[in-house]
Amino acid sequence: MSKPTVLITGACGLLGAHLMAGLSRQAHVVGVDRNPWWGDVPLEMLRGDLAEPDFLQETVRAVAPDIVIHCAALTDVDACEQDPARAYAANATLTRHLVRAVPEGRLTVYLSTDGVFQGNQPLATEQDPPCPRTVYGRSKVHGEWDVVLTTRNHLIVRTNFYGWSSGRKTTFGEWLYRALEHREPATLFTDCFFTPIYVVDLVERLTRLLEGPFRGLVHLGGRERLSKHAFGLLMAEAGGFSTASIRAGSMDQVPSKAQRPKDMSLSSERFVHLTGCDLPEARAGLRRFLDDRNRPLSARGTPAEARVA
Ligand SMILES: NC(=O)c1ccc[n+]([C@@H]2O[C@H](COP(=O)([O-])OP(=O)(O)OC[C@H]3O[C@@H](n4cnc5c(N)ncnc54)[C@H](OP(=O)(O)O)[C@@H]3O)[C@@H](O)[C@H]2O)c1
Repeated sequence: MSKPTVLITGACGLLGAHLMAGLSRQAHVVGVDRNPWWGDVPLEMLRGDLAEPDFLQETVRAVAPDIVIHCAALTDVDACEQDPARAYAANATLTRHLVRAVPEGRLTVYLSTDGVFQGNQPLATEQDPPCPRTVYGRSKVHGEWDVVLTTRNHLIVRTNFYGWSSGRKTTFGEWLYRALEHREPATLFTDCFFTPIYVVDLVERLTRLLEGPFRGLVHLGGRERLSKHAFGLLMAEAGGFSTASIRAGSMDQVPSKAQRPKDMSLSSERFVHLTGCDLPEARAGLRRFLDDRNRPLSARGTPAEARVA
């Protein structure tokens, strides 16, 4: 049987790049991004701005994908708050145009966020109604609606992940690692909760979702609900770092442009039920993250004993 063709938007972002590397083992992957490809193995990439309608149409036509995984977004929560029009254009309008360009019957996978909830209860399920506090969350909910209204053949995956990026933007996990490594003070909230998943663990589980007949809305995060502070302590423990530079703080003490939700934790029980896959334990995910630190993108997630020296 021939390999499916998968088009990945935002292919040079944190998740998109790991999806490119992970899926290229079993699919014909083509990435699209306005930034250059940074992986160690050359993969098929189209470079351009998907907000330009002609480029978007031509990309989908030329690639003729069986599956589109839409990762391109404006993910900077404060930037979204400052410029709502830009946020809606990037996260909602672009999604609408993309999903309408995808030929009928092809699967669209939309990456969404734990930031769609009000954040006043733990472990939100797919049945809980979204009620976003931030412009980012609202624009992503609009993106979800555009997908649902346009095609039944979709997966909407709400998540929250960490990993090693291209370095162009510093992600939360990278910022925390550097603070621990250099013993720089890092204030981490004890009243902000999430269910983080290492990006390689996420890619492996997304692959299982793609292999099955599942459609609709799925939450996919890590196994444990942790405060940001607890996550920092676990990373320190996993890396053998001193915890002396970690300070416990409260979200209420730090002014923020966006009124971020306090409890972003997701219940991923539906995912477990649908696929039979387990969810990664936080310590194991962090150990993989730390092991992958100096590995090229294509080797990430590989057990040490399976690697060629
Ligand atoms: N990171 C998380 O923990 C998290 C949590 C929940 C959900 N998500 C969702 O997961 C998806 C991937 O997130 P990520 O953290 O991997 O994002 P990311 O690192 O910011 O990557 C997104 C990529 O898409 C590119 N892009 C955006 N708009 C584009 C356009 N119009 N044309 C071409 N390229 C464009 C970005 O380029 P620029 O950088 O130049 O804009 C960037 O390279 C997003 O949909 C996000 O909302 C992320």
